[in-house]
Amino acid sequence: MSAPIAASSGAPFAKLLSVASFVPSRVVDNAEMCTWIDSSDEWIQQRTGIVERRWVGEGESVETMALDAGRRAVEKAGIEASELGAVIVSTVTYYHQTPSLAARLAHRLGTLGAAFDISAACAGFCYGLAQAEALVRSGAARYVLVIGVEELSRFTNIHDRGTAFLFADGAGAAVVGPSETNGIGPVVWGSDGSQADAINQTVEWSKALAGSETPYIQMDGRAVFKWASGFIADAAKDVLAKAGLAPEDLDVFIPHQANNRITDAMLRALKLPEHVVVARTIKQFGNNSAASVPMAMDALLTSGEAKSGQTALLIGFGAGLVYAGQVVTLP
Ligand code: ACO
Repeated sequence: MSAPIAASSGAPFAKLLSVASFVPSRVVDNAEMCTWIDSSDEWIQQRTGIVERRWVGEGESVETMALDAGRRAVEKAGIEASELGAVIVSTVTYYHQTPSLAARLAHRLGTLGAAFDISAACAGFCYGLAQAEALVRSGAARYVLVIGVEELSRFTNIHDRGTAFLFADGAGAAVVGPSETNGIGPVVWGSDGSQADAINQTVEWSKALAGSETPYIQMDGRAVFKWASGFIADAAKDVLAKAGLAPEDLDVFIPHQANNRITDAMLRALKLPEHVVVARTIKQFGNNSAASVPMAMDALLTSGEAKSGQTALLIGFGAGLVYAGQVVTLP
């Protein structure tokens, strides 16, 4: 008989210890947007809720945004960066295929922990959170830094009427650590690769490198809208059910900031009571994909609209098509 292999054992539960974000400096309002596309401030506000979006300014990049948000999340968590057992970065807009942004950030933050990037688009932060929770509970890591960061402006065709007004930049980060009580509910996640072309890159890298075509992110807005306001709204209900909670148990709802009308459809499906605070940061930030959920969480906590210890439902969804959601206790 072969010798038994020792199994790892970790914390009984995991929780969010902190959240932080980086808001890029360049404000692009709808008036400026309409110098590039045939649209109007009124149309953009009515159809999406966006008044202005943030794009990177001078000296800002995927790496600087992620480093800033990550560093502050570690400080707020009250731990040393060297205690991070893993750094997970979700992004679809980093400039290098390899090595990962996470490995560079781990070094710059000051940890030799495991480091890897994930590509789960607008569901990326919630995908990362699910992995962090599992790593802490399995004992593979005691503290995990999860970062969602995007520089979508670099991959946005500013003349594309279907995407230019939506996409934005930013970073959000959170530290997950051990807990005696549960602070992160079961993840509900999945994918539907049959709809891979609903949001994709216009030109694959091999062709982009060989020619002069710039790869942009393009989208079948109507298809994504239908999927998000139907299937994803139902998935949000599953997230609550898996956490063993009813709508009235929630204090805060933080959906991916894709479109206020999608958020409204989810609210109708979830039948959330009036007291639930709903994230609407798309108004000033736009849709910054993997960064949107942690940025919205940080903004609600900073403004005082949400409070530490409250119960929040998170859900992200996007290119893949992929989705992930969980209920958390706010840090
Ligand atoms: N400005 C003015 N009018 C426009 C624009 C524009 N930018 N774009 C389209 N229109 C017009 C169309 O021509 C059409 O006119 P018509 O009725 O005369 O034919 C009308 O507006 C409606 O067009 P739709 O394409 O049906 O517009 P819709 O209401 O679907 O809104 C939008 C478009 C905002 C993109 C929406 O489909 C959407 O939000 N989709 C989901 C996006 C999303 O959730 N993405 C998440 C993942 S991607 C990521 O996060 C990175």
